[in-house]
Amino acid sequence: MFRLFFLGIASVFTKVVHAKKSVFMPPEASAYAHEADKLYAFILNVSAVSFILIVLFIAYFCIKYRRKTLNDKTPHLSHNFKLEVIWTIIPSLIFFFMFAWGWKLWNQARYAPKGALEIFVEGQKWSWGFHYKSGRTSINEVYVPVGKPIKFILSSKDVIHSLFLPAFRKKQDAVPGRYTSLWIQPNKKGDYYIFCAEFCGTGHSGMMAKLKVVSFKEYAQWLSNDPYKGMSLSQIGKKVFNASCTACHNTNNTAKVGPGFGGLWASTKILTNNKSVVADSTYIRESILNPNAKVVKGFLKGVMPTFKGQLSEQQIRGLVEYIKGLKE
Ligand code: CUA
Repeated sequence: MFRLFFLGIASVFTKVVHAKKSVFMPPEASAYAHEADKLYAFILNVSAVSFILIVLFIAYFCIKYRRKTLNDKTPHLSHNFKLEVIWTIIPSLIFFFMFAWGWKLWNQARYAPKGALEIFVEGQKWSWGFHYKSGRTSINEVYVPVGKPIKFILSSKDVIHSLFLPAFRKKQDAVPGRYTSLWIQPNKKGDYYIFCAEFCGTGHSGMMAKLKVVSFKEYAQWLSNDPYKGMSLSQIGKKVFNASCTACHNTNNTAKVGPGFGGLWASTKILTNNKSVVADSTYIRESILNPNAKVVKGFLKGVMPTFKGQLSEQQIRGLVEYIKGLKE
């Protein structure tokens, strides 16, 4: 009866955590994600069963050994050797089992197989830049082929960020001054979220990217494609803006982390040093590459990162053209 009851509870917990489509967990997009969930469900089940057992025993003993009369004496108890050995050995075995299982998975998670496809990832306030060995770069969007092991090599331009791939149950800090890495082997095509999981300042919650798992053919095509083929400068600018600027800037004139860009073009702005500047292409270009040179009054210096080396001339020209067209 008791056994059935616990098994029932355990199976409900397993269903909740470990169902194919769980309400509580993100999708599983790799074999590792499935394994990690199994271990997680096991630990959760053991904890749930122990919790229930302990609470039931507390309640049972409260009733059984309550003081029945005013003169009720506490019985003299010393110990029970057999019982103590059992409640030491059984939990220890369970803990060692958890440890061994976790260790095995951790090793699997840590070390990328030889021949994994390497992609460089650079975190900065507040976007993710991706650099392929072919020279292709992208911001906040990364294409990978399905079924292949992929190794992300992380670095950071400013502070500690953390690359978090919930659908792959993996997370790794990107630390300034060193390389760290994380590998995945996606087994399902689709779009998956990449978050920053280390509080890195005002725009932290907007530091998101998309992982696109596609067929090898689509991936190869994307790698060799000119991302701006057939696009006008302002269309290019819009694309760059949406990928790199929206975490901090609005397209109307409401300020976010930084100023809104609606109506900015050709307007006169007062700077922190009380001088004025006309927002022309030279000023916008300078503010993208050397953002602290001329900061508009009311905004803080040092908040905006430089995009030097991140954006090409074509992308900067595109941004200028796009901002030109933004109305209040
Ligand atoms: Cu980068 Cu939080």
